[in-house]
Amino acid sequence: MESLEHIKYAKSVLSQRDFEELQEYIGDDADYWPTYNFKPKDVPPRNKIEKAIVKLIGQDNHVEYWIRNPRGQEPTLWHVDANELFMKKYISENDSTEEPPFARQFPLNTHILYISIDPKMKGGELLILPNNTYVEGRPINDTNYQPLDGSRMIIVKPKENHLVFFNKPIYHATNEFKNIDPLRRDFRVSLMFSSWDYIPKPYDEWHHWNNPWIGIPAEQLKWPKGA
Ligand SMILES: [Fe+2]
Repeated sequence: MESLEHIKYAKSVLSQRDFEELQEYIGDDADYWPTYNFKPKDVPPRNKIEKAIVKLIGQDNHVEYWIRNPRGQEPTLWHVDANELFMKKYISENDSTEEPPFARQFPLNTHILYISIDPKMKGGELLILPNNTYVEGRPINDTNYQPLDGSRMIIVKPKENHLVFFNKPIYHATNEFKNIDPLRRDFRVSLMFSSWDYIPKPYDEWHHWNNPWIGIPAEQLKWPKGA
């Protein structure tokens, strides 16, 4: 029988006060903040995002976190959450689009917390394939992945202060935005975080990184805001 115990959904996870404080802290320019971030479990929270994460899940594990605000119609393709920073850094240093097999390191789980959602946004839903776990040999960001016919799909309409959780490397994606109006740039700000039971490379060197790729060297960045 099918089990969905690896997926959870919760509403109003932070108190109204804590949530509004986090919303205000993140604002809507987080696209310019470091792309990949890490908080080791023995380091006390250094900013409001880390404080909120600790409130939600405690400090038993190390945490990787990232914020996205796609502001447009670009969908996020099917992928599983893995050590994406390592993979992209390797690709930038080796000038190769072939993924290193050792980038296939998976966190213990993924949390998606919706921070600010444009009330006028159409589309932008999260799609989860609960029964489709990572297929060995495929890239983790999988441009060509097609769900098998008849695969169950969960569709989540983003709502502020709601949280989606899963603890298996299952395929997920986001839908395109449907109101493609060049004058409107809908916001859809989400905070994602994953627990790790060890510190994966290159987070052992530095905690805040850009988004490296071919022609874009990996850069160690400063966190843009104080606590
Ligand atoms: Fe993801």
